[in-house]
Amino acid sequence: MRHFISIKDLSKEEVEFLVKRALEFKQNSQAYKGKLKDKTIISIFFENSTRTRTSFEIAAKRMGASFINIDHNQSSIKKGETDYDTIINLSAMMPDAFIVRHYHSGYPYFLSRFTDIPIINAGDGTANHPSQAILDAVTMFETKGKLEGLKVCIIGDITNSRVAKSHLWMSKLFNWELSFYGPRTMLPDERWLDNIKIEKNLKDALSDKDFVMLLRIQLERESGNNIPSLKEYAKFFGINSLNVPDSYIMHPGPVNRNVELASEILDNFNKSLITKQVENGVFARMAIYEFCLV
Ligand code: CP
Repeated sequence: MRHFISIKDLSKEEVEFLVKRALEFKQNSQAYKGKLKDKTIISIFFENSTRTRTSFEIAAKRMGASFINIDHNQSSIKKGETDYDTIINLSAMMPDAFIVRHYHSGYPYFLSRFTDIPIINAGDGTANHPSQAILDAVTMFETKGKLEGLKVCIIGDITNSRVAKSHLWMSKLFNWELSFYGPRTMLPDERWLDNIKIEKNLKDALSDKDFVMLLRIQLERESGNNIPSLKEYAKFFGINSLNVPDSYIMHPGPVNRNVELASEILDNFNKSLITKQVENGVFARMAIYEFCLV
């Protein structure tokens, strides 16, 4: 039984194991059927989600677990109970794991000090989104047959992106040539940039890469204040039919259509892996359950 909070806490061998296990599950449903029989998993999301919450639920149910989703808007949090007290009270019912998404960076680490029940981080603030990084790694491995030495550029609102931070840890494990590109107001400060290249322009950002990963402008974190307009962002940082790269395109979702990605690319580009990422998310989360609970 273990927590799953950040890629930073994992070894290269553990990430490789999770990726290969996810692909085994994808190829053979007998490998995961019944693995979580008699387990009860509780999810509680303090921020919105479509992909992550649903795929954790589908993965749990296909593995035979009971899955309870707490809608925090319908819970006693609305009567004034704190998020901490909510988790402690739910812990007393002895579930086998918590899936937690929280808007505060570091909140899953904080919770993990008070419970031995595995905390599986479904995204904390701007810090970590480890299950997204694993599903992305599954998709990269499936596409290129390796994780070592990949050339990856992440474009967009890097400062607010827990996906970019998780891939920063991933890049250290697998010696990626990782670069960032975006408006200067959305790039992280120096302490994050050890061995990370900042691309000079969009042409360079899109050249000679295995994977280009686009990110959403996170309006819920007031990122809109860091750019003059979404229209201007699309013009200078967006991918469209005039600047489409040779590399594969990835995006963690949700996409702001016609901002970071034009509709013609989103709907028709044959090297887009975006739907494949969502598909692999279910198998990646199965591998994470097995790693933490079995
Ligand atoms: N990629 C991702 O975390 O998507 P959701 O916010 O829909 O879960």
